Amino acid sequence: MPCWACCAIPVTGVLSDCLTGRITTHQSLYMARPTPSFPLFERLFRHSVAMDLGTANTLIYTGDGGILLNQPSVVCFKKEAAAGPRRVAAVGAEARQLLGRAPRNVEAVRPMRHGVIANYSAAEHMIRQFIDMARPRPMFSRRAAFTLCVPAGATQVELRAIREAAVAAGAWKVSLIGESLASAVGAGMPVSEATGSMVVDIGGGTTEVGVIALGGTAYSGSIRVGGDTFDAAIVSHVRHLYGVLLGEQTAEHVKKSIGSALRNVPLESMNATGRSVDDGLPRTVQLTNQDIAEAIDGPLRQVIGAVKRGLEMAPAELATDIAHNGIVLTGGGALLGHLGTRLTQELGLDVRVADEPLTCAVRGASAAAAAGLLDEAAFQ
Ligand SMILES: Nc1ncnc2c1ncn2[C@@H]1O[C@H](COP(=O)(O)OP(=O)(O)OP(=O)(O)O)[C@@H](O)[C@H]1O
Ligand SMILES: [Mg+2]
Repeated sequence: MPCWACCAIPVTGVLSDCLTGRITTHQSLYMARPTPSFPLFERLFRHSVAMDLGTANTLIYTGDGGILLNQPSVVCFKKEAAAGPRRVAAVGAEARQLLGRAPRNVEAVRPMRHGVIANYSAAEHMIRQFIDMARPRPMFSRRAAFTLCVPAGATQVELRAIREAAVAAGAWKVSLIGESLASAVGAGMPVSEATGSMVVDIGGGTTEVGVIALGGTAYSGSIRVGGDTFDAAIVSHVRHLYGVLLGEQTAEHVKKSIGSALRNVPLESMNATGRSVDDGLPRTVQLTNQDIAEAIDGPLRQVIGAVKRGLEMAPAELATDIAHNGIVLTGGGALLGHLGTRLTQELGLDVRVADEPLTCAVRGASAAAAAGLLDEAAFQ
């Protein structure tokens, strides 16, 4: 049987040719898989949607419609006086504005923590609303096949909760893909080649380190450290340094504006307002990029440690490939100032930030599903 994509090389022997490096790029292993055949009904109505249900942001993407939804993973419930089902008051960006500001009869919830569901009922409501907002095709909007990105460190119980929440929100079928593989595909890395590639996805709640080769994940590691940890470290540092308590959203804003992974860079500063721990009154302090670099040094070292562990654990041949090809950063955390330079200094390897790092995972999940790259066995 020939390669289904582009060449006449028989399927038998493709694996060994890939391993010896004789077949590259479009001719590699996954391309040789036959196109799955669906029953007629399924082919007519099959509608495939990728969703990245992240700790900070949820994205929905389809191959033909592009990004249909990109919203913060937040849902607000209105507390009714009488006992009964809670009513969703807002989701996404609107709900995020209420975090830390909600009136007493409204509760703002972030249902995801560290890439997995922390509040099942809130997650189900949020997914349902997001699917309605995205409405890729009105007739079949909910009854679509979903491919969901999941962190490598998720337990079986956490994976089941994600599947069940998507099904409860109306998904017809749910497939899971590791966030590393999805991000690598979305970053345009040569995942189907025998050459090893390393991708580091720094999200809001997790950092995922993946080594990808031959269309699969050779190593994946996940730590529960991400942008949220950086924000918390900034809050704690500013409180310690100036006796001012910042809100988490203010800390995040400072991080995005002047955050730096390196201390010895040209000085930048900005004002941030919080509450004085002495008298409880509002107080504004001037923060510099060096303050932020100092604040986030602890969690940043954990991220660097996870990348070093990935390099140590990767099979020797793949580690050599990574040494030649470098590392690609994805996820919102990849946008932290000077992060690539800091990692290059610490690891002695080339490090680059992917184009559009915030959308790599969802775009990659969609492309991987279309190419038949999903490794369902890994998530059984
Ligand atoms: N310019 C920036 N500098 C630093 N951090 C940033 C920047 N832009 C976004 N971030 C951070 O990126 C994180 C969100 O990234 P992303 O959307 O990839 O996370 P997620 O996929 O929701 O989370 P996870 O993958 O952990 O579940 C937030 O913590 C946000 O503060
Ligand atoms: Mg993510």
